[in-house]
Amino acid sequence: MKILFLNGPNLNLLGTREPEVYGRMTLADIEAQVRQQAEQLEVTVDFRQSNVEGELIGWIQQAKGNFDAIVLNAAAYTHTSIALRDAISAVAVPTIEIHLTNIHAREEFRHNSVIAPVCRGQICGFGAKSYILGLEAAIDVNDVK
Ligand code: DQA
Repeated sequence: MKILFLNGPNLNLLGTREPEVYGRMTLADIEAQVRQQAEQLEVTVDFRQSNVEGELIGWIQQAKGNFDAIVLNAAAYTHTSIALRDAISAVAVPTIEIHLTNIHAREEFRHNSVIAPVCRGQICGFGAKSYILGLEAAIDVNDVK
């Protein structure tokens, strides 16, 4: 099983970016935890980050036929990008939406996710653990199908 992790804008700054909100782990730290868990669960992961909406869309499009699931932290594009939503909908690769923070407990503009309706589910609020839970969900959605 192959799982694609995609990270949106500003997540490359984790570790120094508002640590009181996002914690002190870097994206590389999170990736290392995901890879360790993926090895134990015997699945292959690819882990990418981009600040560019079009690049994320390209990766989603290329996931069709190449990955069994996508785990997506779309960051701020979660709340704005109809283009990302349409890409997820178009490829029909099961996609799990994840966030470090509980977006529903933050500013009102973060409460709405335009990608949620086309994702299999949403995991938010568990810090770096959201990524591990996302990995487990990505395996589960493939097992039950
Ligand atoms: C985030 C939440 C978003 O609202 C925000 O724009 C991010 C990170 C999270 O992981 O908590 O950049 O996706």
